[in-house]
Parts: sequence; C-alpha cells; structure tokens
Amino acid sequence: MSNYLSNKSFKDFEDIPHMDIFQRAKSHAEYLDFLKSSGYMNYRLLVTSGCGPEVTLAADGPIKKGQYVSFVCNDYLGFTQHPEIKRAAMAGIEKYGTGAGASPLIGGYLDYHQELEDKLSDFFKRPRGSSIAYTTGYTSNSASLQCLLKKDDIAIVDMAVHASVYEGIQGTTIKRFLHNNLDALERILTNVKDKYRTKMVIVDGVYSQDGDIAPLKDILTLTHQHGGILLVDDAHGIGVIGDTGRGALEYFEVMDQVDIITGTFSKTFSNVGGYVIADPVLISYLQFQSRQYAFSAAATPAIAGVSRAIDLLDEEPHWQKKLWENIAYYRKGLKDLGLDIGTSASAIIPVKIGDVQKNCEAGKLLLECGIYTNPIMYPAVSLKDSRIRMSLMATHTQEHLDKALNAFDYVNKKLNIAKSME
Ligand SMILES: Cc1ncc(COP(=O)(O)O)c(C=O)c1O
Repeated sequence: MSNYLSNKSFKDFEDIPHMDIFQRAKSHAEYLDFLKSSGYMNYRLLVTSGCGPEVTLAADGPIKKGQYVSFVCNDYLGFTQHPEIKRAAMAGIEKYGTGAGASPLIGGYLDYHQELEDKLSDFFKRPRGSSIAYTTGYTSNSASLQCLLKKDDIAIVDMAVHASVYEGIQGTTIKRFLHNNLDALERILTNVKDKYRTKMVIVDGVYSQDGDIAPLKDILTLTHQHGGILLVDDAHGIGVIGDTGRGALEYFEVMDQVDIITGTFSKTFSNVGGYVIADPVLISYLQFQSRQYAFSAAATPAIAGVSRAIDLLDEEPHWQKKLWENIAYYRKGLKDLGLDIGTSASAIIPVKIGDVQKNCEAGKLLLECGIYTNPIMYPAVSLKDSRIRMSLMATHTQEHLDKALNAFDYVNKKLNIAKSME
C-alpha cells in the first residue's frame, strides 16, 4: 500500500500512453479508491457550513460528521462572514440581479465592475484605468500572460510560482530559476540579454506552499537593470503583510515600481475573481485581446462585496493586527513542539514532514482530533517535501489554536514528525 503512495501521484494521471480517456479515468478512480480506503482522502471533503475558523464536515468513510477547527480557508481576515461585506454583496444582487448577462465587451460591463476597478487602482495608488477585473484569480495570471507573452518573448519564473502562471506561459520561452535565488535569476537575465523582445520576470509576493516572501526589492532592481519587466502575483500578501495590508509591494516599498501586479478576490477579499494592475495602455490591450476576458461573462453583482472589503481593509485595521497575533502565537506553539515550519513569514504556515506516507497519516490523525488541514504532496511540492499546510485567520481564537497545537503534539508523539526532519 505504501508503495502505491510513493510510486503514484495525481500527476501520473494527466496523460497515460495508450490509454483512452475512459481507461485513464478508470485508472485514476482506482487511485482515488486507494486514497479513500487508506483514510488519506483529505481532498474535496464536503463542507456543510460557511468558510471560517470552524467548519462542519459531512460524514464520508472514516470522516465523522461534525465541527472541525479549520485551517483550510485563505479568508485571512475572516471577511467572508463580515456583515457589511455580506450586505454589500446582497445589495449588489438586489440592485442588478444575479448575473452580468454577457462578457464585458458585448454588454456585460456594468458600473459595479467599473467601481471595483477604480477602487483597485486607488488601492494600489495607480491612476484610474490601471486595473482589469477577471472572474478568477487563476485567469488573472493565465489569461493575461497568455495574451502578453508570445514565442519571441521570455518568461523567467521562480520555480515555485502558482500553476496559473505556468498555464499562461505555455506559448512563450520559459526559464525557471531556483526559488528566491537572486544569483540564479541574475545568471538567466545575463544570458538572455538582447535575445528576446519582452523579458518578463514572474514571482509571487508570498508563496502559496511555504508562506515565505520574495525579496522583491532585489528582484526588481535586477530585473530593471537587465531590461526586464516584473510581474508580482500577490494573492497571499494582500491583507496580510505591509503596514496597511497592501501586501509584499508595500512591505518592500515598491508599490509604484513593479510593472504588473496580479491578485485574487478569493482570499482576503472574500469572494471570487481576480485582477491585473498595470499601465493603462496594457490594461486596455488586455480588455480587448485577452480571450478569457473578452469571450467569457463578467463577474456577478455579488462582486460588490469586494468593493466593500477593499474599504474595510483601511477602515478596520484591527483584523490584520489580530491575524498577526494569531500567527505569532501559533508559530511559537509549533516551534516549541520542535516542528519545522520552514521559512514561513505570512499567514500560510506549513509543518514540513517530508515523507509522503507520514504526511498522509498526519493529515488523517489531525482530522481524527477535529483539526482540518491540507496535507500537500507532489506535484504541488517536490517529492520529498510533503507537508501539512495551514492558513491562519484573524477569527481563529486562542482556543482553536491550542486545540490544534495539542493535536500536533499527539501526532508528533505517534509519528515522530519533529524528529523526522533532523
Ligand atoms: C499564488 C496564487 N495565485 C493565483 C491563485 C488563483 O486564485 P483563485 O483561486 O482566486 O483563482 C492562487 C490560488 O490559490 C494562488 O495561490
């Protein structure tokens, strides 16, 4: 059984030579059955309550129906349940109905979209016209990159960027550099000098698996020195880092210098959708040339909740303060247990376990203790870097955090996960 776990991953089923789609899907279903029967199926669990620091899970195999302390929501400030944001989303639906009815170019560009884009431009201290709202954070990267970078261009990406970036750069030249490694980046930039039309360096502000931060100031300097432009996806930085929650760019004081910023509404902004911030002439190009924007329906009026969330970030800074109190408390608790939280410096905290089997066991035991986390394994992280990934929220209480720390203590005693990192 453990052999199956170390020999197979979800990646193995993307394509299988000589198997038609039904054979491939059947083989995939067998893998899912294996995960389920081992109690390792922590994916796609049915939640019957809203997103929050506690959720209700439905019964499924070994999983008991009931309340769990949850570390799986990227709703860092707890805004999905903020009464004013809910009211704004409902008011949007009351006024405009439930859908936009068309793509933005052919009738689906309503004034609530424009209001949101204006708020985004203001939030990032850019002139009006500097932002475009997509219907997912994923397409903010994939669609805009697919539109901007062609075969005579080059994307120079940190190897830990999100899947949506990789999807967006399929049609261009790609060079990957070691995670957060400035020397590796500089080597590539030097090698590609004068070779491509557009050289775009692409990094995250805060990385989604390790929760660490990119050295943006140095990356920006290197990129510009070598004639490149910089795109930063700050999906996990907004609301969390920077004095006023404006993310990694604020933290490094480069708000006005990064060429392209992308982000999402699905985390701190507590909705669904995403955005690109750039020079207005690029934004206008995306509006007409980015296929997933031009040929797909615009965001629903519930997106009015995002406009309110943007305001609340400035109006109610205590949420960010409380989030950091929680982060400090939880980090210390995990470290005191001897657990390895890697280079995390944000609300994303991994407990690095390494071995995939132990990691799956840890996820299972945590669930048995009433703690819902994400066991992450290959291909989301490299083969020997499995970990339990958690997102902290401002609305976690000390009781929640203590319950999770007690559970980790129990898991560590059973599996020796602290020692396994030595
Ligand atoms: C770094 C990063 N960028 C983009 C996305 C995609 O955002 P969304 O889930 O809102 O589509 C994610 C999602 O988890 C992410 O972690």
